Amino acid sequence: MRKPIPYGSQWIDDEDVKAVAKVLKGELITQGPVAVQFEEKICELTGAKYCLSMANGTAALHLAVMALELEKGMEGITSTNTFVASSNAFVYSGLKPVLADIDPRTFNVFPEDLKKRITKKTRVIIPVHFAGQPCETAKIRKLAGKQVHIIEDAAHAIGSKYEDGSLVGACKHSDMTIFSFHPVKTITSGEGGAITTNSKVLYERLKSMRICGVVRDVPNKPGPWYYEVQRLGFNYRLTDIHCALGMSQLGKLKAFIKRRREIVARYNKELAGLPVLTLPYERPGVFSAFHLYVTLIDFKKLGKSRKEVIETLVAEKIGTQVHYIPVHEQPYYRKEFGYKHGDLPNSEKYYEQALSLPLYPRMTDEEVDHVIKQVRRVLS
Ligand SMILES: Cc1ncc(COP(=O)(O)O)c(C=O)c1O
Repeated sequence: MRKPIPYGSQWIDDEDVKAVAKVLKGELITQGPVAVQFEEKICELTGAKYCLSMANGTAALHLAVMALELEKGMEGITSTNTFVASSNAFVYSGLKPVLADIDPRTFNVFPEDLKKRITKKTRVIIPVHFAGQPCETAKIRKLAGKQVHIIEDAAHAIGSKYEDGSLVGACKHSDMTIFSFHPVKTITSGEGGAITTNSKVLYERLKSMRICGVVRDVPNKPGPWYYEVQRLGFNYRLTDIHCALGMSQLGKLKAFIKRRREIVARYNKELAGLPVLTLPYERPGVFSAFHLYVTLIDFKKLGKSRKEVIETLVAEKIGTQVHYIPVHEQPYYRKEFGYKHGDLPNSEKYYEQALSLPLYPRMTDEEVDHVIKQVRRVLS
């Protein structure tokens, strides 16, 4: 019997299990050396100077915005086409979340639209590299103005590259980049996340904020026990158990992305030409890690609803997902910030048609063929 094919899933092998077991059998299962090694590896991969592992991507976003020490009542801009964690990060710090529309081809925020939304109160922009596709961060950096910080949300984009070959996470055009290592992401640590930065000041601040605001390295300490709480913080540490898994997975990142891109190429070839289907677009010059394979389906033209299509595929053991319900359409955002339907038309049109097909490295060729066959069938 066929096993269900989810829209996304981790790949854990014996090497990963061994790496985790080694930490479990050792002395320190948290605040030990493996967390530091994991962070060093992420620096090595991305080219960033500093990295801090975090409990999850949401925690990373929370601290990244908070570390900018912005005045309450100011504004932060991010994409409406994201997981709500990206915009909640502004709210945690007392900023007004300003949601931006998307480019209909890349599904990312784009400079022309952002420019319209920047005001005197804008202090931070979070470009989200949706589905792994890097945003035009260099252009965004240029148009944003000096008072505006940039935090890249690269929850989908570890291993993705810009046009100049630099890795997302190098922070060439941003203050910080955040990652998520949830199991559906390109690599996983169970739950987990990280922040990269090239700023020593931000690094030191984030480091203490990750451990309840504690700073141990203070001058003229009365003794070794002494520490100071110099700012508000949380416990957002990632354990060495998680970091061992993350580090082991990082060793497979290239292979994971290669397999993802193989599947994408196969989908692109075999699903081309269906009149109701628009396939994903990769901006020329960039390299997407392809966290998601997002298609657009013209359900009206097809004469079937999205629910019907999803249910037909479920009957064939094929899972799909919708990424994302626009944040500005969420009841909390409508109630608290006055958003309404019609505010961001590109993303609303996108949302009506979006459907993510299964994509994860562990998919077999046979499973990929099954998805292709069934998608062609339901969309014909
Ligand atoms: C774009 C984006 N940002 C942030 C997050 C939050 O990451 P986490 O689930 O690790 O908290 C996610 C997770 O789905 C995401 O997709």
